[in-house]
Amino acid sequence: MKKVAVIGSLSTDFVVTTGIIPEQGETVVGEEFATFYGGKGANQAVAASRAGVQTYMFGAVGDDEFGQHLIDNLTNNQIDSSMIKVAEHTSSGVAIIQVHEGDNRIIIVEGSNSKNETVDIDNHAEMLKEMDLFIIQNEIPTDVIEYAIKFAEEAGIPVLYNPAPIKEISHELLEKITYITPNEHEFETLFQGKTLEQALAENPNKLIVTLGSKGAIYHNGEQAILVEQEKIDNVIDTTGAGDTFNGYFASGILTGLSIEEAIKLGNRASGIAIQKKGAQTGIPKIEEVSR
Ligand code: RIB
Ligand code: NA
Repeated sequence: MKKVAVIGSLSTDFVVTTGIIPEQGETVVGEEFATFYGGKGANQAVAASRAGVQTYMFGAVGDDEFGQHLIDNLTNNQIDSSMIKVAEHTSSGVAIIQVHEGDNRIIIVEGSNSKNETVDIDNHAEMLKEMDLFIIQNEIPTDVIEYAIKFAEEAGIPVLYNPAPIKEISHELLEKITYITPNEHEFETLFQGKTLEQALAENPNKLIVTLGSKGAIYHNGEQAILVEQEKIDNVIDTTGAGDTFNGYFASGILTGLSIEEAIKLGNRASGIAIQKKGAQTGIPKIEEVSR
């Protein structure tokens, strides 16, 4: 069975559903509150695991009450947590999320996610070398992201890099990545001065730009291919849609699907995930996606 390591964040999402977004200085009455498991790294790990890939998570939780729950949640999702460290005197990562008409606004506090260190990669080098793919996002320190990408290159391991939320990373490192999956906004920041058509053509079979409800687009070496998302009528919460896409896309690649087929799989899975509240709750198991 193929193995994937997700190198990234774990967080608890504090989600308020509200009919009104407050203006500055204004207080409004929201509709509902709930906590969910989140963090882009953990969400993508859960997606990969539910897609049927043997999944390992590398990251850090705090020594507060949330930390152990975050680890237990990995275990409950059949994800190996032996590369998760507990950072002392640190709060676990949190995200404060407002959901309004199915769309979201998110504030994250990194907490323990900022405590990942390059030496942690070295400490787990033996296990990491066994992986068939790394999945990395931007909710951990930049030096760890860069170190992990270099480690992967030396070990001959492909990397799926989801540059979310957006931050600077050297263009030399981008060369080393196998797949990069920005959304439109992240794309514009990363590929400044290039049109979508140019950037896609220059990065065939590598750059996959996710387009929300429109699907995702990539270039197959001959032409740009838009892989359309089916129309979803019952959108409840889009939080984690991109994460579901990435975890499922990775599983598709690892099981030998073409890029186009892997994108279709990612689209189908994320289309299901957004029909339930919470980043991870709605992430389907593979049986549900194939149906
Ligand atoms: O991608 C969605 C995730 O981003 C949420 O689960 C939240 O934790 C934020 O980090
Ligand atoms: Na959801």
